[in-house]
Amino acid sequence: RYISNHSSGLQGLSIANAALARGAKVSVIAGPRVPESNSSIKRLNVTTALEMHDAVHQHLDGVDVFIGVAAVADYRVEAIKDKKIKRAETQDPNMSLRLVENPDIIASVVASKSAGLVIGFAAETHNSLEYARSKRQRKGLDAIIVNDVSDHDIGFNSQDNEVTFIHPNGETRYPRQSKGQIAEHLLDEIISVFSKQLDKK
Ligand code: PMT
Repeated sequence: RYISNHSSGLQGLSIANAALARGAKVSVIAGPRVPESNSSIKRLNVTTALEMHDAVHQHLDGVDVFIGVAAVADYRVEAIKDKKIKRAETQDPNMSLRLVENPDIIASVVASKSAGLVIGFAAETHNSLEYARSKRQRKGLDAIIVNDVSDHDIGFNSQDNEVTFIHPNGETRYPRQSKGQIAEHLLDEIISVFSKQLDKK
């Protein structure tokens, strides 16, 4: 038993494939249950947010663009039990789990100044654009891509997505379409919006 979410990894892998198709050298750091990636992609599998944080920082050297698509937990259970918690032994109808904060991985990538561009996703359920704009500022991201995860036809564990790409010069909305098509649009727009920074590489 564990606390997690329904992320399938499909949006992240679609972005990795779109980057590969444009000639990039791509590494994917993936959480549990993410399907296999293209054999030309360097793949690292992790289970926890702490493992993802460490793996990210071990692989930041020479990274031109870091894109954080993973639905990383903001909190983790403080004390992980290695044995089953027996209902009969706890005898508490209102059991509580103490949670502690996980590191904000993408903000730590920004702080490290090791990656050229840092682009994140925002999973929102309401006031999506407003929250995503302030999330971009707060985390110091070059751009953010927001999707509404309260809509079960898009976002978590679905084939399609519908997103708004928010960057320093404007915002573009991409209506519902496959996550592969969304990835293609996003990569084209990232290359066009940040062409000056990317040309310096
Ligand atoms: O995997 P799929 O089924 O294809 O679904 C795709 C998706 C819905 C997971 C994806 O499109 C998406 O929304 N990803 C971001 C999920 C998320 O964690 O959003 P957030 O608003 O909570 O976080 C904002 C950013 O901070 C994200 O880039 C996230 O990767 C990053 N973050 C969050 C928590 C944390 N501890 N460390 C982080 O780096």
